[in-house]
Formats: sequence, structure tokens, C-alpha cells
Amino acid sequence: MTDEENGEWNFASDNVAPVAPEIMAAIVESNSGSVSSYGSDPWSAKLTARLREVFETDLVAYPVATGTAANALALSVITPSYGSIICAQDAHINTDECGAPEFYTAGAKLIGLPSTDGKMSVDLLEKTIAQKRTEGLQTAQPHAVSITQSTEWGVVYDTAHITAISGIAAANDISLHMDGARFANGLVRLGCSPAEMTWKAGVDALSFGATKNGAMAAEMVIIFDRGRTGGLAARHKRAGHLWSKARFLSAQLIAYLENDLWLRNAATSNAMAQRLARGLSGIAGVHLIHPVQANQVFATMPQAAIDAITTARFRFAQWTRGPLGEGALLRFVTSYSTTQSAVDALISCTKAAMIANGTVAGIKFEAI
Ligand SMILES: Cc1ncc(COP(=O)(O)O)c(C=O)c1O
Repeated sequence: MTDEENGEWNFASDNVAPVAPEIMAAIVESNSGSVSSYGSDPWSAKLTARLREVFETDLVAYPVATGTAANALALSVITPSYGSIICAQDAHINTDECGAPEFYTAGAKLIGLPSTDGKMSVDLLEKTIAQKRTEGLQTAQPHAVSITQSTEWGVVYDTAHITAISGIAAANDISLHMDGARFANGLVRLGCSPAEMTWKAGVDALSFGATKNGAMAAEMVIIFDRGRTGGLAARHKRAGHLWSKARFLSAQLIAYLENDLWLRNAATSNAMAQRLARGLSGIAGVHLIHPVQANQVFATMPQAAIDAITTARFRFAQWTRGPLGEGALLRFVTSYSTTQSAVDALISCTKAAMIANGTVAGIKFEAI
């Protein structure tokens, strides 16, 4: 039963979406006969070859089932246990991974830089590194910088920004990691190549996400410099992420990349977010918090409207009080499976709620 048949419209996360039919079909198709285990199967070999084509370079790639594992493993390769990782304050690695990066690196420290939209300020990064260098052995020296594309606040780094960050990192002998849980959403927004958004811009290690964009559970740790894989094969196994039946992970990722499914899915997802942003921003009393550049829309609206859309069975995430002090901060996330009718229904319901609440066009009036 679809959400709409069920009378529920779920914007809580892109993880609430079903598996893309093409990926489900690929899992089923790979489910016949016996093949070698632990990544020695034909799907896994094909996947690595395909990734080298997609990224136009040699690389080392290991599939994992969660984004947390991808991030923590990638960071463990580029950060020693006594080092630190600089990231934005609200980075998923800093706020939502239960210490997995610290655990996998065996103790590296995370340094969260203030940021309102999840993007890292180049200036602040430079100053922070300089400060840490003066502190010497008293502090955990930065060995990695981690950025999220697209960010936790739904905005997208352009390649010049990534290049500026990697330039500062490289000048200080620091590696750059990209959390690409929503990599495709950022890529489609920029319209550049995967190579341009990563290694050509100075990214050393990438967490390449697919789960939020149609896979069942499949992400990749990708290291672009074959000379710097830092025991990743052993780390992957030791962490319990080397699946014996690895073909089922690899089959998902091959299907994800086939016929540009990943780009088509992200384009739909981004377009639905744009549609929602356009509709909500036209309603007086509803405020969008950040430019909508990928598939997340952050908004504030009065509590009466929140209650109304909740009662109408729209699902979304609610943060604490919004930055404008006008009610809770809401997060609406679209996915490849979000429909125009769901988006339009949410816009109409919000508008109706605002009218019933007596606020349209910024003017208070009595509901008729
Ligand atoms: C920015 C970001 N990175 C990584 C992840 C990966 O999380 P998980 O371990 O739940 O797959 C998420 C999931 O919400 C995310 O939003």
C-alpha cells in the first residue's frame, strides 16, 4: 500500500522511502546460484570497475551497509588515534553517530566549527588549524577535515568552495573527507561530474551514499589515492563490514549506477524539494530557513499550522524552537519516491491551516 493509499504523506526523511524497483529487481536477479563469498563474486568485481569509470580514476572502494560505517571507516584511514578531525558543528559525524568516528579511529577527537547551514567557512578552518598548530602537543592535531555534501541543512558546496577547503587542508598536510550520504543530490544540483566534485577538488576519502536515494542498504567507502588506503581492507573486516554474501550489496550499487538511476532519482528528489519550497515560501507566516539546493526543506510556521498538518497525517521532523522564534523548526525531506500530489497536498493543507489560523499575506484577519 502506498503512503497516499494509506492516507499518510511522509516527509520525515529520505530513509522512509521504499527500495527503488530497479534495485529490488537487481537483488532478486543476483539471488540465484552459488558464487564466491566475501567480495570475490562477479558483482563486486564489476562494481569496482564501474566506480572507476564513474569517477574517471583509479580508486579503492569497499561497500558497507550504513552511512555511519562508511564515515567512520573512511575517517579511520586518514586520521591517527591521536589526531583530530575538523568538521562543521552540526555534521552527522559529530552529532548523530554515537561516537562511531571516535570508536573506529580508536580515539581521534572531533572539532566542530560553528556554521549555520552546515557549510564550513574557509576562513574559520584556516584560523582553527593555525591555532591548533600553535597549541602543539597540548591538543590533538588536525589530520582530517570532513565536509558533508549536500549538508545536513540541505545546501550544497560548490566546487570552488571544496577546492578552497582542500587547498588549506593540503597545505597543512591534512586529508579531506566528504560525507556523501546525499552525494547524488549535491551532484545533480551542481551539474558537474563526480570527479569534479571529489578528487579533482581535492577530496581524498568519500562516503558514497545510496540508501537515501533508492538502495535498500548500501554505501561505499572510497579512497582516491591507492597509496593511502591505511589498512582499509583489514579495518573493513575487523569492523564486521565484510559481508560474506557481498554480492547483495554490490548488486544494489551496480543497479544504482546503471542507466543513471542515481542521477534520475536525485533529480526527482531535488525537484520535489524545489516544488515544496516554492509552495511554502508563497504562504505568509511560513519561513524557509535556508536556500533549498538539494532535497531538504527547513521551515518555521505557527503551532496551529503544525498541528493541522500533523492531524492531516503529514509526517515530518520537528526540531526545537525555530531560529525566528515563530514556532518549531520543521524539516521536510523529499526522495525519489515523493510525488507531486503529495507535495501539493502539503502546500494546500499548510495554506488552509494558515487561513483557518487567521494569518494570510502577513495580515491577521478573522476566519470567515
Ligand atoms: C549527512 C548524513 N551522513 C551520514 C548518514 C548515515 O547514516 P546511517 O548510518 O543512518 O546510514 C546520514 C543519515 O541520516 C546523514 O544524514
